[in-house]
Amino acid sequence: MENVLVVGRGGREHALAWKLGQSAKVGKVFVAPGSHGMKDVAEVVDINEADHAGLVKFARDNGITLTVIGAEQPLMDGIADSFTAAGLRVWGPSAAAAQIEGSKTFSKNLMKKYGIPTATYEVFTNAAAAYEYVQTAPMPIVIKADGLAAGKGVAIVANVAEARAAIKDMMEDSKFGDSGHRVVIEEFLVGEEFSFMAFVHGEAVFPMELSRDHKRAFDNDQGPNTGGMGAYSPMPIIDQATIDESVETVLKKTAAAMVAEGRPFTGFLYGGLMATAKGPSVIEFNARFGDPEAEVLLPRLESDLFDVLQTILNGGTPQLKWSADVAVGVILASTGYPEAPETGHKITGMCNLSPGTLVFHCGTKHDGQNYYTAGGRVLIIVKKAADFATAKREVYEEVAKIECDRIFYRRDIS
Ligand code: AMP
Ligand code: GLY
Repeated sequence: MENVLVVGRGGREHALAWKLGQSAKVGKVFVAPGSHGMKDVAEVVDINEADHAGLVKFARDNGITLTVIGAEQPLMDGIADSFTAAGLRVWGPSAAAAQIEGSKTFSKNLMKKYGIPTATYEVFTNAAAAYEYVQTAPMPIVIKADGLAAGKGVAIVANVAEARAAIKDMMEDSKFGDSGHRVVIEEFLVGEEFSFMAFVHGEAVFPMELSRDHKRAFDNDQGPNTGGMGAYSPMPIIDQATIDESVETVLKKTAAAMVAEGRPFTGFLYGGLMATAKGPSVIEFNARFGDPEAEVLLPRLESDLFDVLQTILNGGTPQLKWSADVAVGVILASTGYPEAPETGHKITGMCNLSPGTLVFHCGTKHDGQNYYTAGGRVLIIVKKAADFATAKREVYEEVAKIECDRIFYRRDIS
């Protein structure tokens, strides 16, 4: 039996640990730092994501065959490089390859160089130049902080005044820290947005099924951008021709481009795509599994995830089998998320959920007796069913059973 380690602490890592633990080949699943809520599927290890040496030592001491990195920050900080240097197997890109997420300038320039379809753009490091540019730019337009901002460093603005305010926030008031000192200003794309992820190892690309995130905080795509308020999979509105084109012009081309750049990518490559009138166009890349997309995709994966990752790392072709069922996941978030989530509120009702309901912990803590909210995103409730109407109805029946004073959720996931 093999031992595996998942690095991270959110709903995505809970889902990864849950799925890896279903493998007949896997003995123990560890998650670091994880949280108490993951104890149903994993042994929780109190080592922070940032403690790469500590995690490498833990993996060595515990005979870990494979470590799966869930979250982006440790990847940017080189955790995969640390594991590789120690001769340990890791699923996740090197720091150099993780730049595809870590720097919008890097990923935009890569797409331009290799002809990967994306919105036209300009990069600014000088606020005065950015102010001048938006004075005559076509509206709406999209203004993005260059670095990591947990899905929040993006402003879609309708006029010059809003554009100036967004530039001021990012470049002058450092609302996103250093991330915003360089901004990308890009064309506003119109179309259906979809998340298209693949298992990637060098030039080998194995696409997953599609899923759809819901980035805005409130119903009908109102309110600020968040890390994601819910998701579903599959996405029948996107036709097969668009999927096939995306595999060729985006996923495979990007994997090959990263190899050509001397930054071969290993891990979950996430394409946030827009199906525009002119074909699929990239909104963003991420260097890891989407969250909450992981929580609806992994329940539909019928293949053994441990086997899939090992096969790919061995240079082989995995069997990817997906359930025909649909999965809908609804995030329960703390009141005030994303700007100022209020945490520390007691959560009850989890024990009343119906069998077959999946619950992944995004940001909770446990005091030995009860769970409390402990993050912007708190829990995700997921239901699988034969059709969307049933999955949606059932997931909201379950969501209604969770009680907590200071949480909210979107009622329109699907
Ligand atoms: P990002 O953090 O880059 O994923 O951006 C957050 C959200 O803003 C995306 O999921 C889109 O809904 C929206 N967005 C970002 N860039 C564009 C664009 N160029 N055109 C239209 N919408 C965009
Ligand atoms: N759900 C979007 C992301 O993971 O970045």
